[in-house]
Amino acid sequence: MRPIEISPSVLPADFARLGDEIAALEAAGCDRIHWDVMDGVFVPNLTIGPDIVKSCRSFADIMFEAHLMVVNADEMAPLYVDAGCEVVMVHAEACTHLHRSLDNIQKLGAKSGVVLNPHTPADTIQHVLDVTDHVLIMTVNPGFGGQNYIPLVAKIEAIKQMVDTGGHDIDIEVDGGINADTIKECAAAGANVFVSGSALFRYDDRAAGIAELKGNAETARS
Ligand code: DX5
Ligand code: ZN
Repeated sequence: MRPIEISPSVLPADFARLGDEIAALEAAGCDRIHWDVMDGVFVPNLTIGPDIVKSCRSFADIMFEAHLMVVNADEMAPLYVDAGCEVVMVHAEACTHLHRSLDNIQKLGAKSGVVLNPHTPADTIQHVLDVTDHVLIMTVNPGFGGQNYIPLVAKIEAIKQMVDTGGHDIDIEVDGGINADTIKECAAAGANVFVSGSALFRYDDRAAGIAELKGNAETARS
């Protein structure tokens, strides 16, 4: 079984102290940092650019993953690899030539991630799994933190089956509305990496929050 990992979204963080916030999340035991990159076109919100990510790189050693909610994913991907992201995730809905986009990310020496909006069918990724290291399943409509969770258990199960049947070495990650309760059905359905923004930042003790999320996921899938 793939390890359970918690990847905090930076959206709820204090952007005036982003480096310190990243260091604190690492110290609290999270496994990755989830950078929500929004261009104001693919989604109706605008967040951070590659220079912000680069400025935070030295504050933590853990994996940086860039979730690119942008229309020009092919042009943006190399900038986030250069900024220090080990994983770059692009939306299937933003890539006309998705296989090439993912292959190019791998050729840059990074891990590739394909992201599916809630409405996008699981079989969209059927023919790109050979150039995919992570599948990110959106359980909210992208653009904002703190939204209501959209249950997509059957979709997670379908993707898990696709990955297992093909013998692929791929993380299955969910993103949006993940908390101590919703994480359970996602883990039971086959997800092993969990993005959490507002739910995690609500804990006074972030280490305890990460431990609770991980524990609930482990219990749910056992
Ligand atoms: C939404 C982002 C998510 C979001 C998660 O477009 O991709 O990563 O920030 O935040 P919560 O956990 O609050 O839904
Ligand atoms: Zn995200």
